[in-house]
Amino acid sequence: MAEMKTIFGFDTSMPLDALYQEIILDHFKNPRNFGKLDGPSTHAHHENPSCGDQLDLQVVINDQQQIDKIKFYGRGCAISQASASMMTELVKGKAVVEARDAIASFMHMLTGEGEAKVDLGDLAALAGVKQFPLRVKCATLAWKALDSCLQHSEAQP
Ligand code: FES
Repeated sequence: MAEMKTIFGFDTSMPLDALYQEIILDHFKNPRNFGKLDGPSTHAHHENPSCGDQLDLQVVINDQQQIDKIKFYGRGCAISQASASMMTELVKGKAVVEARDAIASFMHMLTGEGEAKVDLGDLAALAGVKQFPLRVKCATLAWKALDSCLQHSEAQP
C-alpha cells in the first residue's frame, strides 16, 4: 500500500507540481480575507457533505453592485481553505457580474461544466484537483457559498 504523504492535510501524492503546491500551502497557512465582517449585506453557510467541513462567507455589496468586502471563516482541508482565500482575493473589488464570470470559469476548470470566461490567476494551481471527485467538493465549497451570496443579494428588493 502506497504511503500517504500529507502536509497540513494536503495530499502531496496528488500530481500537482511543486509551484502549485507552494501556492496552495501559502494560502492555507496565511489565508487572505479570513475572519468576519461587521454588517455583511449577504452571507452563506456551506458544508462539504463528504467530510462535514464548513465554510461561512460574508460579503458587502455596494450600491454600484461591486463586492466591497468579503471574508470567510470555518474549517476545512488545505484545498478548501486555499480555494476560499484565492477566491476572495480574486473577486474583492470586482463587479457582481465579474464575480459570476469567475464562478463559471472556476466550475468549468474543475467540472468541465459552464464556460471559461476569465483568467483565474493563481487559482490555476487547483486545476489538477479535477482528477479527484471528492477533492472537487473541497475546492468548490467557497465558490458555492459565493454563488449563494450573490443569489441572496439579487433576491433582496
Ligand atoms: Fe473537508 Fe476538504 S476534506 S473540505
